Formats: sequence, structure tokens, C-alpha cells
Amino acid sequence: MNKLLKLTFAVLAGLTAVGAQAQDVKAGEKKIAMCIGCHGIVGYQATFPEIHKVPMIAGQNAKYIASALNAYAKGERKHPTMRGIAQSLSEQDIADISAYYEQQAQAPAAGDAAAAPANVAELLNKGACASCHGANFSKPIDGAYPKLAGQHADYLYAALKSYQTEGNPYVGRGNAIMAGQVKQFSHAELKAISKYLASLNGELRTVPQSKMR
Ligand code: HEC
Ligand code: HEC
Repeated sequence: MNKLLKLTFAVLAGLTAVGAQAQDVKAGEKKIAMCIGCHGIVGYQATFPEIHKVPMIAGQNAKYIASALNAYAKGERKHPTMRGIAQSLSEQDIADISAYYEQQAQAPAAGDAAAAPANVAELLNKGACASCHGANFSKPIDGAYPKLAGQHADYLYAALKSYQTEGNPYVGRGNAIMAGQVKQFSHAELKAISKYLASLNGELRTVPQSKMR
């Protein structure tokens, strides 16, 4: 691809704001061998720090994927496995892989979003969650914010609790925005929120790739 074409492509994909790194979907496809053993198997379970399904990353925003990988690499997200993996990636790898996964978004299944049960609606209002995570929790106002709709409930619950965890060397996420958010909720409330978000139709999915190569 010549430079101009590449640039046009990046603009079309809405990826230019990410930084200096040009993003190459084709190159990314060749760099995910290390990821598919977990993120490319439908229903794959992780056991740390509790049993939960590994997050769906196909269809997630590229800018958010890159931001999450950088947070693992730097230790702002402490998860040991993802830290080791993220630290093995170059900036260019992260840019290419993020672009590759973003373009795997699926059109959400038709049908209106299920109305939140009254108790959950109250919690979501209290946190003004949709003001950042966007319409139907699938259109975040910034590419660096994650799509949540349809994500696995058990993963969302583990992720939300990790923003509450402090002083543990292996568990926890240092993100000021979400740390402030989750402080106001009990575990039972976070679980109810997670269950509702997971029930929504969204763009995230797991693309089975275990036998691809
Ligand atoms: C051994 C299994 C495993 C492998 C291999 C793996 N991941 Fe992960 N990944 C996980 C788990 C488990 C989590 C959830 C970690 C947490 O709780 O923060 C995760 C989280 C992530 C997240 C954050 C998702 C979110 O919604 O915040 C991204 C992005 C990610 N992985 C990308 C990758 C990429 C890219 C690769 C390959 C270079 C990869 N992972 C390889 C298991 C794995
Ligand atoms: C001011 C903006 C803002 C608000 C309000 C907000 N979030 Fe977030 N949320 C973020 C950002 C930014 C991240 C990414 C943090 C990171 O990099 O770890 C995030 C991450 C998350 C994640 C982790 C997703 C994943 O894939 O790992 C969940 C779950 C989440 N938010 C749920 C909520 C819920 C539920 C509420 C309301 C109680 C809420 N958020 C309110 C900005 C916001």
C-alpha cells in the first residue's frame, strides 16, 4: 500500500487519533497467533483471580484495545498473564493488532435493547454510565473507552471489582475514572450491572480461530 492509501484507510477506520503509529490490519492478522489460544476460543475460561470467560476483544475499539495493552505493559493493570503478553509486544504490534480486532465488529442483533430492571436502571443512573459508554453501552463517546454491550457478565464483574482492588500486587486496575465510579457500589450491585450489560445486543464477539493456522 502506498503512503496516501494507507493514510486514507486509517482515516476511514477512524484510527488516526491513536498516535504516530500507522495501523496495519493485514500485519495485525499475522501477529495474533499468541492471542487466539484464549481470545479465539468461544467460551474459553480463565481461572485468575476467579473463574470467568476471557473478554471478547473482536469488535472492541482499537484505541481502547491499545490503551488496555499499554496499561498491562506498564503495570497499571496488574493481571500477570496479560502483563507478560503485553510486554512482549512492540508499539507497532499493538497498533496493528488493535486495528485487526476492531474491524471484526459484528452488526448487533436486531431488536430493541432490553429495558434495565428498575434496580439496575437506578444504579446506571447513579453512575451516569451511559454518559461515557454511550448509546446502548455500545457507542462510547471516546474511542479509548470500551464497548460493554454483550461482553461476558462474569468478566465484567471481575473487571469492575478490579477497579476497587488496592494494594494487591497481582490484581487491580489503576484507572482514576473507573475507580471513582465503582467505589459507590457493593459487589452485589456490580454483579447486577454486569448481568444487565451482558444481556444487551452489541458488536463484540469471539471469532473462533483455533484451527485457522
Ligand atoms: C492465556 C490466555 C490469554 C492470552 C494468550 C491472551 N489473553 Fe488477553 N486477556 C486474557 C484474560 C484472562 C484477560 C482479562 C484480564 C483482566 O482481568 O484484566 C485478558 C484481557 C485482554 C484485554 C483487555 C480487554 C478489555 O476488555 O479490557 C485485551 C485488549 C487483550 N487481552 C488482548 C490480548 C491480545 C492482543 C493477546 C495476544 C497478543 C492476548 N490478549 C493474549 C487472557 C489471554
Ligand atoms: C467519565 C467516563 C466514564 C463513566 C461515567 C463510566 N465509565 Fe466505565 N470506563 C471508562 C473508561 C475510560 C474505561 C477504561 C478504563 C481502563 O482503561 O481500565 C472504563 C472501563 C469500564 C469497564 C471495563 C470494561 C472492560 O472491557 O474491561 C467497565 C465494565 C465499565 N467501565 C463499566 C462502567 C459502569 C457500569 C459505569 C457506571 C457505574 C461506568 N463504567 C461509568 C469511562 C467511564
